[in-house]
Amino acid sequence: MNLTKVVIPAAGRGTRLLPATKAVQKELIPIIDKPTVEYAVEEALKSDFKEVLFITSDKEGSIKNYFLEDKNLNHYLEEKKKYDLLEELPQYHQSLRFHSAHQPEAGGLGAAVLLAEDFVQNEAFTVTLVDDIIDADVPVLKQIKNVFSKTRSSIISVMEVSDIEVPMYGIVEGEEVEPGLYKIKRVVEKPKASETTSRLAIIGRYLLTPGIFECLKITPRGKSNEIQLTDAISLLLQKEEIYAYKFKGTRIDAGDKLGLLKAQLYFGAKNRLWKAELKKYVDFLFSS
Ligand code: G1P
Repeated sequence: MNLTKVVIPAAGRGTRLLPATKAVQKELIPIIDKPTVEYAVEEALKSDFKEVLFITSDKEGSIKNYFLEDKNLNHYLEEKKKYDLLEELPQYHQSLRFHSAHQPEAGGLGAAVLLAEDFVQNEAFTVTLVDDIIDADVPVLKQIKNVFSKTRSSIISVMEVSDIEVPMYGIVEGEEVEPGLYKIKRVVEKPKASETTSRLAIIGRYLLTPGIFECLKITPRGKSNEIQLTDAISLLLQKEEIYAYKFKGTRIDAGDKLGLLKAQLYFGAKNRLWKAELKKYVDFLFSS
């Protein structure tokens, strides 16, 4: 089965980042100098995917445009002899093909993924949630691809969370079949901690078989009165085996204000030239 396509839902209102999201789409808000959506696309590229579909509410297609070549900008930088900046510009368009589908109104993650049916064309595909930034030696999509080569079934990436975090995530219950790999028995969207004994939370990297679309079509509105992808996965589980995979990497939820700030610091501190200065500044801030 081919595995070349990534779906990136990007039609949410970004209410957790208001008022900035009145002016800028959430996925275009940068962490230092790169929009959050670029972290998702970079991961897809490094994991040898070929096609990316953005599901977006924005008719102008500004997310897709960001990844295309800007000949005017290239020309300007060449004229000014700013070759270093020119070299820094991402060249994703050389290796990836970009598509977009329009989601007129936010109807939930499930409704967004259903719009990818034509693009996916009966192949297995992955879904990346931009808010979940994962820094990993081996990109998480690649890790999941490796698991897929063994299981040939849908794979949901998970991480352990604490009791208070349970109601913020889709939760997976399963049987560990090898270290870090679980055969899923049940999935439930944002349960109370008392409603499940599992602490395995779904993080925004899914590998799904095309069977998910028939399930999405009959999934009733769930939590927040939206079509939940987790509920469709629960239906798919009645027909197919699905695995949960505990990925290796550091995940930051960059979809809210504190998370975005943490992501800025995290990637700032990864810059060798900035690290010492940043530490001095943070020490100074917290010493008073
Ligand atoms: C979505 C999913 C949820 C998952 C989470 C991961 O929720 O519905 O199952 O655990 O992403 O980030 P959201 O954060 O969009 O409310």
